[in-house]
Amino acid sequence: MPTEALEIQSPRYIVRPLESDDFWHLRRMEDEIWGGDATGQLCPYYLRLCTELYPEWCFIALDGERPVGYVLNFPNGKVAYCATLAVHPDYQKGKVNYLLIRAMLGKLFQEDMVECRFLVAPDNRDARSVHNALGARVVREVEDYYHQGDHRLWSAITKEDLDRVRTRYTRLRLVS
Ligand SMILES: CC(C)(COP(=O)(O)OP(=O)(O)OC[C@H]1O[C@@H](n2cnc3c(N)ncnc32)[C@H](O)[C@@H]1OP(=O)(O)O)[C@@H](O)C(=O)NCCC(=O)NCCS
Repeated sequence: MPTEALEIQSPRYIVRPLESDDFWHLRRMEDEIWGGDATGQLCPYYLRLCTELYPEWCFIALDGERPVGYVLNFPNGKVAYCATLAVHPDYQKGKVNYLLIRAMLGKLFQEDMVECRFLVAPDNRDARSVHNALGARVVREVEDYYHQGDHRLWSAITKEDLDRVRTRYTRLRLVS
């Protein structure tokens, strides 16, 4: 498998791995997307972890100069944790989410990962739809996660799901 950086160019958008300066783009999008949601917003230490230690696992989507979405992933052996997938409200229900998922899957395939895990709030319909479309199943429920009373679901896609998605994406020529 090639190990070069994954970059996707569509006629309008560029999706590429993070760079150090993307810290400021992520800060801005965190504000724009998560607004006053204290649970949703990531602290600067966490964002620097992404830009400095895991840049090749995390992807940003740009519409010209404007950052419009991101997906943050962390590997643990051959299991990936998809920590955040977020698209600016002006760009939701469009192509950006698909391009980000495609970049993330490309990395998972490239690194021959055997599982990918997502953590999601039970009522986050859009996020759960995306996970379900990839074949994710809830594997665990956790309580008091980010604050007292915070109920979250862990869901996972396994090697079989990844292989199935890969076949579908290869057929659609979305990955090679
Ligand atoms: C979660 C989020 C990124 C989804 O992006 P979006 O543009 O709203 O999502 P889409 O409309 O493209 O995806 C939803 C639909 O497309 C389908 N879909 C999405 N990605 C897909 C994929 N890669 N393959 C196939 N189908 C897919 C889903 O089945 C879903 O279908 P539905 O119409 O039945 O719901 C976006 O809503 C967001 O940023 N929300 C705020 C942040 C957040 O809560 N993030 C998740 C927790 S970290």
